[in-house]
Amino acid sequence: MTRSEQRTVSTEQRTNKSDTASESQVTIERSNTVPPVEGAPDGVITLKDLEVFYSDFRAVTNVNMSFGSREITALIGPSGCGKSTVLRCLNRMNDLVPGARVEGAVAYHGVDIYGEDVDVIEVRRRIGMVFQKPNPFPKSIYDNVAYGPRVTGMKVSDMDNVVERALRGAALWDEVKDKLKQNAFGLSGGQQQRLCIARAIATSPEVILMDEPCSALDPIATAKIEDLMVELASTYTIIIVTHNMQQAARVSQRTGFFTAEADDKGQRTGRLVEFDTTEHIFGNPSDARTEAYITGRFG
Ligand SMILES: Nc1ncnc2c1ncn2[C@@H]1O[C@H](COP(=O)(O)OP(=O)(O)O)[C@@H](O)[C@H]1O
Ligand SMILES: [Mg+2]
Repeated sequence: MTRSEQRTVSTEQRTNKSDTASESQVTIERSNTVPPVEGAPDGVITLKDLEVFYSDFRAVTNVNMSFGSREITALIGPSGCGKSTVLRCLNRMNDLVPGARVEGAVAYHGVDIYGEDVDVIEVRRRIGMVFQKPNPFPKSIYDNVAYGPRVTGMKVSDMDNVVERALRGAALWDEVKDKLKQNAFGLSGGQQQRLCIARAIATSPEVILMDEPCSALDPIATAKIEDLMVELASTYTIIIVTHNMQQAARVSQRTGFFTAEADDKGQRTGRLVEFDTTEHIFGNPSDARTEAYITGRFG
């Protein structure tokens, strides 16, 4: 059976499942419903047999995991194991990568965001993203935050209020309230990253994806972002890729450890080795590879 036939069959299977997504969810095809992963926490996003290719290269395979509501989940593992690849699948950012192909399902409240007739803009509004290097737009601080609400066509009666709330939410308001019309490039790196977080939360997402958000920042700016993440987790579901294990241990409730091992053809495909509470992963990991990694013996 070819891959596309498999995909067709599994789509038909999905169609036959009862629809468990709640009414308030994304306005996308109901036939994309994916059954929950057995034994996984009841999550906002659930990955079922996720597999990602870049052209012929299979970058990650067999990823099954679920992200709990208003929790911080950390994705850790050595460079090249597919953490960013998996993260980018969660709001269809991989659509923008030429040659990238996603198999399996990414279910948001039980609905496959890769299904037909999905509104990708709406997916990215509900599942926002913050990148490794702060990437404010060459615009004013105000316009950076107002950007998302404007382009996604959100109905906003008072944009000033939306901007202030987002900047307060990102713990940046007091530092910028007197210079909202100044260019965002005048801010420090740590402030720029908080501005990017403000930009992400301005569209009222439910989930925020962060790919190594502190790796370009100094320790003080990093500590501020970590404090902010913990605060944001009372409102948002946060999924963070980090190579900083102390950071994963400090901020997250659950941790997924990935690694890539070469197959007989020498292809290094990433896999999820272990996914559990952060306490378990760092205190008493079940897999020897997890233990070797967290104790610094490889990676
Ligand atoms: N745009 C791309 N095109 C081709 N290969 C890619 C691309 N992005 C990542 N890869 C490959 O996919 C694998 C996983 O990469 P990545 O997800 O960036 O890993 P990590 O974030 O864990 O360091 C690596 O082998 C990497 O070289
Ligand atoms: Mg990465």
